[in-house]
Amino acid sequence: MKGVVLAGGTGSRLRPLTNIINKHLLPVGDLPMIQYAIEKLSKAGVQDILLITGKQSAGLYLEYLGGGDKFGVRLTYKLQEKAGGIAQALSLAEEFIHAGEKFVVLLGDNLFEDSLLPFMEAFKHQKEGAMVILKEVTDPRRYGVAKMKDGVIEQIEEKPEHPSSNNAVTGIYLFDASVFGVIKTQAPSQRGEMEITDVNNVYAAEGSLSHGFLVGWWIDAGTHESLFQATLFIRKEDS
Ligand code: G1P
Repeated sequence: MKGVVLAGGTGSRLRPLTNIINKHLLPVGDLPMIQYAIEKLSKAGVQDILLITGKQSAGLYLEYLGGGDKFGVRLTYKLQEKAGGIAQALSLAEEFIHAGEKFVVLLGDNLFEDSLLPFMEAFKHQKEGAMVILKEVTDPRRYGVAKMKDGVIEQIEEKPEHPSSNNAVTGIYLFDASVFGVIKTQAPSQRGEMEITDVNNVYAAEGSLSHGFLVGWWIDAGTHESLFQATLFIRKEDS
């Protein structure tokens, strides 16, 4: 299975740090954030990885990650000319994924303990569609939240004021190549972004959205507070 890492965006919640450097190169523990996603994929046997990022710091990614040899992977880069949301960034992977192929997507600011392997294994056996990975959290309003019925995701609500569950949708997704067609049917949301949640809801409505749960720690390191927390988690893991 191939992997796609999304490392673009403006990182507005991490200003002023992100005024000078792309969010996914900020330090977490001893390493730049992006390295965790690359290593997670590598450890799960994903060798062909597309990294999608913006113009800011693009050269630094090349300098640090190069072709991916030192991580045991083959890296391909794609430039996101303008930040337009997660689904818009993902659409740039269309040429990288061939018809009939399944792949795993990581948001570069999502750090987690679990292995990707069990989810990839389960998705290999899924006939078609998509899979999202959930994590039970205490503050679901910051995330996409899964509305469940009889153990199945009925719908995902993006940052709801009144969440229907504590199940946050993490930035770990598995898709087949049909996702590129689905993205083309979508329009930007009220905040002007192409939302991955809208894409996943197409699969939910079709009955082809499955899910898994993370059991270990998970963090979306997109804010100053969570970036700090991420370093604490990593430190604990390393000690
Ligand atoms: C994005 C997704 C959201 C998901 C989160 C996980 O939000 O839109 O559904 O729960 O990533 O990190 P963002 O952090 O880009 O606002």
